[in-house]
Amino acid sequence: MKTVIHIVGARPNFVKAAPIIAEMEKIDNIQNLVVHTGQHYDDKMSNVFFSELGISKPNYNLGVGSGSHATQTASIMIGCEQIFIECDPDFIIVYGDINSCLAAALVASKMGVPIAHVESGLRSYDRTMPEEINRVITDSISNVLFLTSFDAMANLHREGIDTNRCYVVGNTMIDSLVRLSEEFNRSKILSTLGLEKKTYALATFHRPSNVDTASGLEKIIDIFTEISALNTELKILFPIHPRTLNNIKKFNLLDRMNQVDGLLIEKPFGYLDFISSMKDSLFVITDSGGIQEETTFLNVPCLTYRQNTERPVTVELGTNVLVDSISGIVENIRSIMDGTYKRAKAIEHWDGEAAIRVTKILSEVLS
Ligand code: UD1
Repeated sequence: MKTVIHIVGARPNFVKAAPIIAEMEKIDNIQNLVVHTGQHYDDKMSNVFFSELGISKPNYNLGVGSGSHATQTASIMIGCEQIFIECDPDFIIVYGDINSCLAAALVASKMGVPIAHVESGLRSYDRTMPEEINRVITDSISNVLFLTSFDAMANLHREGIDTNRCYVVGNTMIDSLVRLSEEFNRSKILSTLGLEKKTYALATFHRPSNVDTASGLEKIIDIFTEISALNTELKILFPIHPRTLNNIKKFNLLDRMNQVDGLLIEKPFGYLDFISSMKDSLFVITDSGGIQEETTFLNVPCLTYRQNTERPVTVELGTNVLVDSISGIVENIRSIMDGTYKRAKAIEHWDGEAAIRVTKILSEVLS
């Protein structure tokens, strides 16, 4: 019997890991253990994802919670070391680019435990992003690297990583979309909110560079105000990340935000309600990573309010555009409204079968 430990910690991890855990559980001689670091801990940021995505209760929950990067990363490292000593895993699997991913990979690498990294090779080439540091270091110490698209291979090659250990398998976040399409099509979120399809924009903002300063948040309020002025019929649905809400309160900006016409500030949605509201939106405006991919798959226009993206394939082939000015946002919304906005092309291996490819490769490596 081989033991594999999956390390998950925050919302996007749960979505990426669920299809792989489900596939790996079909293999007789592999024991799968799930460690939840507790980086995300609110019911709406964590538990709802486990239940909707069908991930069983984690075997371990480190409960590290929020904190500075050093505190959070160190707590996860200490917790993981204990578990790796106790369970003696044959492999660990880390997901994406969050602090939990880096922390677990660092511990495993020092203990000689092989690491598989799902979503390797993405690069924004912006080292001010904490996630970029997490990506570069995790990739440099991983043994098996699973890539969502071919451009990631060139990034890894450039960093001197042996590409014989890299596999373009596709996107397990898209696997979750495909697997749960019937469920999210049944979501009642629009009727609950009194919204009609394609009469609203969906907005999400949580990047430190946008939401950790008063001036960043004021710019977001300006964007909402501009969108609202452009089309007074359009609603803006804003399920708010706790980090963003905390900062809006801290900088006393909640009243100003509440004054924007048509803006609906909501608590974070679970996975099914979120994907459902994304699918039926007129467009999405975001600074998220994964949402750039999900909108491309669903063929929904995505305006990414950032100066760079680690997911350029969604710009080249998908519905994503980078926007960093109000005028850029307005221009793109006009083209969405007049029906001239670009449409998505298919991306190789974004087909719902990435987890099957991952599992096949890992079972060969483990045998
Ligand atoms: C983390 C990831 C980011 C990912 C995002 C998805 C890192 C460095 N960042 O950012 O890459 O896109 O998750 O959401 O790993 N909070 C709560 N309840 C929660 C979780 C967070 O209140 O359940 C609040 C706390 O105030 C906390 C803040 O949000 O201090 C930030 O949370 P944290 O997990 O550190 O980073 P995210 O901004 O969520």
